[in-house]
Amino acid sequence: MTSQKWRKYLLWFANEHVEFRLPEIKSIASLFNINIRWIEKPNQHPYWVVELPSEKAARQIASRSVGLRSCMELWAQGKTEEELHKNVRSYPMELMKPYFKPELSFKIHVETFCNRQSQAEKVSKIESFSYLPLEGSVKLKNPDVCLQLLEYYGLDSNHIPEKPYKLFFGRWIADGQRDVITMLSLKTRKFIGNTSMDPQLSLYMANQALVQPGDLVLDPFVGTGSLLVAASHFGGYVLGSDIDFLMLHGKTRPTRIQPKKERDKDESICSNMLQYGKGSQYLDVIVADASLPLWRPSFKLDCIITDPPYGIREATERIGTTKNYQISNHHLEGHIPSKVEYGLHQIYQDLFQFAAQHLKMGGRLVCWIPVVRRDYSEDRLPMHPCFQLVANCEQVLTKFTSRRLLTLEKLHEPQEKYTGSDVNSLMGDFRAKFFQYGEEQRKKRKLRKMLATQAYRQREEKEANCRAQLEDRDSSSSER
Ligand SMILES: C[S@@+](CC[C@H](N)C(=O)[O-])C[C@H]1O[C@@H](n2cnc3c(N)ncnc32)[C@H](O)[C@@H]1O
Repeated sequence: MTSQKWRKYLLWFANEHVEFRLPEIKSIASLFNINIRWIEKPNQHPYWVVELPSEKAARQIASRSVGLRSCMELWAQGKTEEELHKNVRSYPMELMKPYFKPELSFKIHVETFCNRQSQAEKVSKIESFSYLPLEGSVKLKNPDVCLQLLEYYGLDSNHIPEKPYKLFFGRWIADGQRDVITMLSLKTRKFIGNTSMDPQLSLYMANQALVQPGDLVLDPFVGTGSLLVAASHFGGYVLGSDIDFLMLHGKTRPTRIQPKKERDKDESICSNMLQYGKGSQYLDVIVADASLPLWRPSFKLDCIITDPPYGIREATERIGTTKNYQISNHHLEGHIPSKVEYGLHQIYQDLFQFAAQHLKMGGRLVCWIPVVRRDYSEDRLPMHPCFQLVANCEQVLTKFTSRRLLTLEKLHEPQEKYTGSDVNSLMGDFRAKFFQYGEEQRKKRKLRKMLATQAYRQREEKEANCRAQLEDRDSSSSER
């Protein structure tokens, strides 16, 4: 009985962060306990044909996915227009009929990927479906039924074919959450910093962490709280900590180019949360060093999402001193502790240990790690015996460097103090290599520029010599 409800759906994605699509959809499916049947192996193309157990499942996926543009119940597909129409005609009428009733308004929407079409072209494509017994009235805004024709012209915008590679037709079910990216844009956000995470990636992280309404979410390197914004969007109650007192108090130098040297008085993570109507989900942020214990041991979190410092734009520091001195009681109250280097290796070791202790069983740690691309291999990733690696996506930063979004799920309670022996030094020398490669690149660019200038000068000189010789020849022949 239930198997009759399984239908084919088309998931139509935006053409960016391609690697993040599959982990996101898998996370959302696990969040709603949806079993997805993959008709084709997911690939680079922006469309996937899947089977889902119900329309509700399709709506649930769309209600959370940031990568998804839209989802439709797939009635037919084809490599040519003729093939598509042939397949539409052979789609079972009893499955289409419920949407062709006189009392249901409708529209047919044409969408193209990697091509533009004039209104006239679109209208002629809409008219090509005139054989469908649509009885309701046409309504362009919020119709009861929206039928959709999607045409895929490939991924290369420099070589757009005349005809699409693939065409799909079906009933639109829902749009993904692309508009939330605009709504949470950093351009209009009250409080941002140099390393504020862009909303799309923040939302991906919240999805990877399986944030659900009522969850308790922590970012232990909270900065300006971008990840808290995303987690609260999906209903999480959010907490953060950061070593930077000035950042948490909105006293760092303004990030935006503006005449003012100071930030507005009310710039803070809290005002961001209020800006998006999520004030009631904001618990608090606290100035604290992630290398030191802060929470009582039994304190449990549903998920941790974080972006630790890489030592490039944000220093990697922790509280400490290399000197041996005592602070007198008299100075203790106003004392600002000194800081020492907090190596990336140690940051991840502490983070994993913290997460192992404070995550609930099955809870997820979602964090970025910076890597030198040529040194990377999955078996060199930091690991912890309490976690299973669920997803690992790359975002390329420069020719040599990238950062990887790791999603780890807690499978075991920590048995004994973790020594970190499983964490190797993949990111240990990231900072040194980042600057070393940067320097090498700069030197190469300088050398290329120098050689180009030299070649230009030599050409100029040669041309000048030629001109002089010609002039000499001209003047000597006129003298003769
Ligand atoms: C990459 S930024 C995080 C940016 C943040 N996701 C946002 O959207 O604004 C890293 C943050 O870690 C903080 N940090 C550095 N060392 C720390 C430590 N030992 N303990 C806690 N926070 C630390 C820095 O102050 C910085 O705000």
